[in-house]
Amino acid sequence: MLNACTSPDFAVFDVVVLASGRGSNFAALLGAQQRGELPIRIHALLSDKFAAPALDIARAAGIAAIAVTPRDFPDRAAFDRALFAQAALLQPDLIVLAGYMRMIDAAVVQAWAGKIINIHPSLLPKYPGLRTHQRALDAGDAVHGASVHFVTAQLDGGPVFAQARMPILAGDTADTLAARLLPLEHRLLAASVGLIARGRIARDGDGVTLDGVRLDAPLQLQDDATLRAVG
Ligand code: GAR
Repeated sequence: MLNACTSPDFAVFDVVVLASGRGSNFAALLGAQQRGELPIRIHALLSDKFAAPALDIARAAGIAAIAVTPRDFPDRAAFDRALFAQAALLQPDLIVLAGYMRMIDAAVVQAWAGKIINIHPSLLPKYPGLRTHQRALDAGDAVHGASVHFVTAQLDGGPVFAQARMPILAGDTADTLAARLLPLEHRLLAASVGLIARGRIARDGDGVTLDGVRLDAPLQLQDDATLRAVG
């Protein structure tokens, strides 16, 4: 079992979060940090939307809240360079995309290889992109979930190392699925960041290692909010 408790053996791990909207995953990560459950320090919330509620969560917590709008730049590459230059000033060990709804320029992703993760509301590689809950319903899936992966230039691509699963129930709608999945996402993201911060999970080429050993399947979130290799 992979323990989610804070260990004094690890130095603080510096994190920057990117979010485009509501920010509940950011708030969950911040809460875990504030409760001393994660050996991390979130230095800033960066957004591509001036009106993102996630920025208000950061301000209320006394964390730098920085918005950069794509409208001020000629193309995506220029915007991404500017946004990630802001992040680079903070010298983060990890950048967490928590509801950040833009693709990132390939050169920028390459410069941060192994240092950007994303949470996505589907069991990747199923349903990259939008409307994931409705697409799972339309496909007649019995199980739905969320994934955390290292980011590549491919939309919601890159090696997946952690997932949370839940059954799809009779009568479920996209809204009920989203509502039931969100608290699982929060625990999944915190547990995932915890493993990276403790040096246990790392990107390894096109794959991921846990304690130096290649993962052949994503870790699964357990009822006790830990991540465990299954099967
Ligand atoms: C979350 O469900 C997250 O998985 C999803 O956006 C939502 C953000 O919610 N991300 C993606 O779809 C990325 N492709 P939040 O702002 O409350 O954290």
